[in-house]
Amino acid sequence: MAYVRRDAGTLTRTEKRRFVKAVLEVKRRGEYDELVRTHLTYFPSDGERGLRSAHMAPSFLPWHRRFLLEFERALRRADSSVTVPYWDWTRDRTKTSAPWTADLLGGNGRPSDRQVTTGPFAHREGHWTIKVGVTDEDFLTRDLGRARDPLDLPTKSELEWALKDPVYDVAPWDSTVTRGFRNKLEGWGTGRGSASWYNHNRVHRWVGGDMLGGASVNDPVFWLHHAFVDLQWYRWQRRHRGARYLPATPPGPADRQHGRVVARHQKLPPWDVTPDALEDVGRIYRYA
Ligand code: CU
Ligand code: CU
Repeated sequence: MAYVRRDAGTLTRTEKRRFVKAVLEVKRRGEYDELVRTHLTYFPSDGERGLRSAHMAPSFLPWHRRFLLEFERALRRADSSVTVPYWDWTRDRTKTSAPWTADLLGGNGRPSDRQVTTGPFAHREGHWTIKVGVTDEDFLTRDLGRARDPLDLPTKSELEWALKDPVYDVAPWDSTVTRGFRNKLEGWGTGRGSASWYNHNRVHRWVGGDMLGGASVNDPVFWLHHAFVDLQWYRWQRRHRGARYLPATPPGPADRQHGRVVARHQKLPPWDVTPDALEDVGRIYRYA
């Protein structure tokens, strides 16, 4: 039986409490920091050499789908009733709406040092010390809405712009492509300033603090954000029946992207799984 991932804005008090407790247990067991490490390892961008499997690449979606499953399995070892909720940032758009409540992820960082001081992941609660990070701070930080240079979360119509593109991805399969569902959703733009961050990327900017870099997994909102991104892939597939993950075959030796992107039937590091095998996960989970 497939389990259900729910909208964070509709969770009951009990569901929120059990989710938070399971996250803290995964952290206590050391499994959470392993996931932060994995994400950091796969953060290199298309300015660097080698295979890109997690970001700025077609496999952005299957990579994070598999990564979420890893986290969800850890959660469900702690409490088998728990699944990863999703944050619908087209609807819950303020600094005080879901998921920023004291009974779920806690609120914004304080102005002085951006430290999150409310909710279960506040440092002073004693359960959430950042151990694997890109800064020296051992407390969680957020700057919701980016106080000094405000920007808005992506809107429904900005998300719709990505969803209506019938092609999964196009050459050169990186952060510069202006067509294709994948980069319109991942959100690398060509302009300057906040206009150059779309959908997925804009949300990382809007949350700020730890969500800005390769160690973004340190903020539990990472999972809620990526569950919603994952849901968009599912919606896109339903809308464009028969549309598949691209590229179907690896770019040839003369192609600049040779050896740099994962094709449909190639393995997706660090796992022994292909994008093809991750296109339909309906037997594992579904969204409500
Ligand atoms: Cu990522
Ligand atoms: Cu992300």
